[in-house]
Amino acid sequence: EMIKQAKFLISNTDYKKCPSPDKPEFAFIGRSNVGKSSLINMLTNNKGLAKTSGTPGKTQLINHFIVDGNWYLVDLPGYGFAKVSKSLKAEWDKMIREYLTERENLVAVFILVDSRLDPQKLDIDFALWCAERGIPFALAFTKADKLSTSRIKENVNKFLAEMKTLFGDVPDYFVTSAENAMGKEEFVAYIEENVAE
Ligand code: GTP
Ligand code: MG
Repeated sequence: EMIKQAKFLISNTDYKKCPSPDKPEFAFIGRSNVGKSSLINMLTNNKGLAKTSGTPGKTQLINHFIVDGNWYLVDLPGYGFAKVSKSLKAEWDKMIREYLTERENLVAVFILVDSRLDPQKLDIDFALWCAERGIPFALAFTKADKLSTSRIKENVNKFLAEMKTLFGDVPDYFVTSAENAMGKEEFVAYIEENVAE
């Protein structure tokens, strides 16, 4: 199934002001510049929906979108290397962690990981943080158009091996590209299956 319609609803700094939690919700998180907003646009077939930028730190708020009238999609600011002040980073961190722990209709958070890199401590730590709190997550490896298939596979497998060591099993994951729409059908199907439950 394809996504037919996605609409921007509202931006917030406080999870308490987010839309009433009456629909299943899926959030996108990961290091700044990893490709969260681009992936959202790719999945929803809407290039201009979420704002993207070559400069890390573009998304600064909790952004709610409604998809096909029956589920919420959330674009979040990045963690990690955004070129913003320490205090602003700390504020985002608090905002994100509060949102993830308190949002009652959250079905899953997608942790985006740059498929070009070896496993990064920051990403592993974030996944551990979610696991410790019982926040359901899946992984989305991004920018898979940037390296050869074999190099991507190598990096993905390294990351999954670390997850297996730490968690005892491998989480659900997708290998994606916002550039060439790799992984789109699987990803949308996964969300829709979870919406239906
Ligand atoms: P912040 O909101 O700043 O945290 O960033 P973000 O994670 O939302 O990243 P964004 O989608 O804005 O993309 C960052 C940069 O990566 C942009 O220049 C995108 O064009 C580029 N980019 C994102 N996804 C892909 C991809 O799949 N392939 C390629 N080649 N470039 C990508
Ligand atoms: Mg963004």
